[in-house]
Amino acid sequence: MTKSIKKNKPTVISLFAGAGGMDLGFKKAGFDIVWANDFDSDSVKTYKKNIGDHIVLGDITKPSVHKTIPKIKPDVVIGGFPCQGFSIANVGRSEKDERNFLYKEMIKVIKKLQPKYFVAENVKGILSLGKGKVIELIVKDFKKIGYHVDYKLLNAANYGVPQMRERVFIIGNRIKKSNPYPVPTHRDHNPINGKKVKLPDLFEKDKSADLKNWVTTESAIFDLKDVDISYDPIKKGNKIIYNHMADTNVHDEFWGRKYPVNQFDICDYLKMWRKKAGISVKKIDQIFGYRHTAGHWFRKDNNSGSIPNPSDWKRLKKILKFDNKYDKQVTTLIKKKIKFEQSLRIQNWDRASDTITATSPEIHPNLKRRMSVRECATIQTFPDDFIFEGSTHRSMIKQIGNAVPVHLAKLIAIKIKKNLN
Ligand SMILES: C[S@@+](CC[C@H](N)C(=O)[O-])C[C@H]1O[C@@H](n2cnc3c(N)ncnc32)[C@H](O)[C@@H]1O
Repeated sequence: MTKSIKKNKPTVISLFAGAGGMDLGFKKAGFDIVWANDFDSDSVKTYKKNIGDHIVLGDITKPSVHKTIPKIKPDVVIGGFPCQGFSIANVGRSEKDERNFLYKEMIKVIKKLQPKYFVAENVKGILSLGKGKVIELIVKDFKKIGYHVDYKLLNAANYGVPQMRERVFIIGNRIKKSNPYPVPTHRDHNPINGKKVKLPDLFEKDKSADLKNWVTTESAIFDLKDVDISYDPIKKGNKIIYNHMADTNVHDEFWGRKYPVNQFDICDYLKMWRKKAGISVKKIDQIFGYRHTAGHWFRKDNNSGSIPNPSDWKRLKKILKFDNKYDKQVTTLIKKKIKFEQSLRIQNWDRASDTITATSPEIHPNLKRRMSVRECATIQTFPDDFIFEGSTHRSMIKQIGNAVPVHLAKLIAIKIKKNLN
């Protein structure tokens, strides 16, 4: 496979690219991303729309994907190898989780392409996994293929990102240079309840006086506070707001189904009746006025299937004319308590945001809804015109929560670029 390389720009090969937070940071710093990969089709759609067509959809453990990597010597290989197996949010994390070994795919690529630098990103939990043995092993493996390796835990808030987000950045080079980490520009000047706040690890101690205060959630997303959520782009003055959709489940109680229901059974049942009625999924979406929701009633792949709520069920019954088999199970609701406290957390307003995660966003300080896709994206420093693609807004939240904040990635990239020169 060949690709014309833009003259003078240092080049990047990107693994586990996701929606492209890290890639966009490198692009903004003046790098040319020549090839990228991810196996999540929604992430790849987002990437293509905003960054470029050079991303390949596929599983990196497959030789067929490796074959599509251009035969060049890139300046940098980047990759946020999957973190689920490592995450402290994941109670069942284990040294044996097979996803833990995906970093070996990155090692394979680096060994073959011999980039001058590599940058890998991961969650904080990687440092304590196996009592520190996992990170030791990863560093040892990178060293074995000829790299001088360092790793540091960086808090994005210390770099002007309006979010407390601690992530480990492993940087390595084979050109006998230092592994450059950006110097913090911000610090927390407002400790809560008199709690002493740790100064960021400065690397340049004399600069501490210049540090600005952390950027608050309020200053980052204030302009969206009173804008109604919407699936469609919203025109506000001469600006267009994209992806300002959000869940409105903000209470500690919710109406849940009284009886257990199996989504696969319901899906098969609805599919059968839809075929009988000769009505397409698209048509049903049109009737309900939903963008994609109805489609999810008829699918069980990708864990994205759903069961219609009682009023949709009744409406659907009139259209498809199905029998009473599942009526009671689907439509009998009772009030239930939300079990996970995490899902009831309210977003900070006058401090840096809590970490934007890949699951349910926190409740907006107005208590009426959760943080919107756009608000999460802004806190992750994605630009306003970066449009997320995906069959559901949950998929978009996942892409955003998985990303490296664009601004932090850019600062790292600038440092590396200087060293390449
Ligand atoms: C932590 S996210 C990376 C986010 C990205 N660095 C960014 O800044 O937006 C990890 C990504 O690895 C992808 N992934 C996981 N296993 C994969 C595999 N076997 N092949 C390709 N991609 C994979 C996931 O779909 C996910 O998008």
